[in-house]
Amino acid sequence: MISKRPLILDTDIGADRSPEYFAEHLERPVLSLNDADETVFARAPYLLTWRPRPGTFDKFQALEVIFSLGAGVDGLMRTDPPQHIPIVRFVDPDMTQLMADWVCHQCLNHLRDQSQYASWQADRHWGNKQQQPMASEVRVGVMGLGELGSFAARRLAAMGFDVAGWSRSMKQLDGIKTYDQNGLDTFLGRTDMVVGLLPLTAQTQGLYDRSFFSKLNPDGALGGPIFINGGRGKSQVEADIIACLKDGTLKSVSLDVFEEEPLHENSPLWGFDHIYLTPHSSAVSRDSGLVRHLSEQLQRYESGLPLQHLVERDRGY
Ligand SMILES: NC(=O)c1ccc[n+]([C@@H]2O[C@H](COP(=O)([O-])OP(=O)(O)OC[C@H]3O[C@@H](n4cnc5c(N)ncnc54)[C@H](OP(=O)(O)O)[C@@H]3O)[C@@H](O)[C@H]2O)c1
Repeated sequence: MISKRPLILDTDIGADRSPEYFAEHLERPVLSLNDADETVFARAPYLLTWRPRPGTFDKFQALEVIFSLGAGVDGLMRTDPPQHIPIVRFVDPDMTQLMADWVCHQCLNHLRDQSQYASWQADRHWGNKQQQPMASEVRVGVMGLGELGSFAARRLAAMGFDVAGWSRSMKQLDGIKTYDQNGLDTFLGRTDMVVGLLPLTAQTQGLYDRSFFSKLNPDGALGGPIFINGGRGKSQVEADIIACLKDGTLKSVSLDVFEEEPLHENSPLWGFDHIYLTPHSSAVSRDSGLVRHLSEQLQRYESGLPLQHLVERDRGY
């Protein structure tokens, strides 16, 4: 263990993430960023972080690889990581599965009008709906067909939804209609329920606004367009979401991410009884998954193989 090169863990990323756990499972020295001193910064090659504090990178003199704790690197990119140091995104089957679970759960909430049943149950009312839409009658559009979006799209298709996907570059997914950037309006026009799984970049900031929601299909089987966001909150304009929920441009939403987190207690979003809010918990980075991912990437790097899941600086994800 002593001969292995150390990893610095930015413990600001979660008080319950312990350097001891990572040291034991990675079988190498792991030190908390807060406990590191000049001698550590002089030789530490690896940093695991998510939203580093300004100036974090200036401390390191021998940094070789930055590992992101999360799939999204927008928080990391905001702190100007040195250009020459590769950034490895967190990609792990557990996270992909968790996000697909959340997306499917939300789509089923809307398909089966779960908030209506919850309200009837709270009122001890034997409500009943005689006509249920079929998943095959609902056109879902997944925005972002990367690690998370492509898997969620496949899972939705397996559940019977009529699924399409949109991404920057054209993708091919069996049984799923795909569109690239030029096809955005056509994609939105055929979509009853849109699922956001995009990274936050200059191009996606504020993308989900009134103009965007107005392009969704108003005549779908669920009785109005639905917006589901598990990507990043700053891609959505919450004032527009609230206004669109009030005037019927949107029928309902499921939001896991928000412009400011935690969502402010005064946000009008809390007051809608037919929407679904979760506290940025759709797909957490589990320690066991991080260990699996770090072990593989460190093993590759230290044996001279190329790192995987590298962030492309010019596109910002
Ligand atoms: N809520 C949570 O708990 C949670 C958890 C994990 C991740 N996330 C969010 O989910 C995001 C996606 O993760 P991922 O692992 O799937 O990322 P990824 O593998 O990098 O995929 C990103 C997808 O978005 C597309 N894209 C990016 N910018 C675009 C643009 N301007 N126009 C059209 N398409 C664009 C990409 O297109 P190309 O395929 O053409 O490159 C790609 O298909 C993360 O960045 C993070 O913000 C949230």
